[in-house]
Amino acid sequence: MGKFVAVCRVEQVAEGRGFPVEVDGLRVAIYRNRDRYFALSGRCPHANGPMGLGWVEDGEAVCPLHRWRFNLATGRCTTVRGHALHRYWCAVREGQIWVEI
Ligand code: FES
Repeated sequence: MGKFVAVCRVEQVAEGRGFPVEVDGLRVAIYRNRDRYFALSGRCPHANGPMGLGWVEDGEAVCPLHRWRFNLATGRCTTVRGHALHRYWCAVREGQIWVEI
């Protein structure tokens, strides 16, 4: 089992946007969609795009570089089959977002 790390405060993540954080040298993207929070790998599998600088459309995280899209709940790429972002468990406690790494 991994450890939970507090990565940012909830108010740092705007509705419908990504937010980039780094945890133990790992790039992680936090997303807020309808007041639910998700944590996915911060590196796009296409060309290492900064997923944390992306946004959410129709329940999918969008990479800001070439707009590949990833399901927030599973991390699966819906633009090109066979690609995915790692999904991290995340939780909100006392106004902070915690990620299990
Ligand atoms: S780097 Fe993400 S879509 Fe190209």
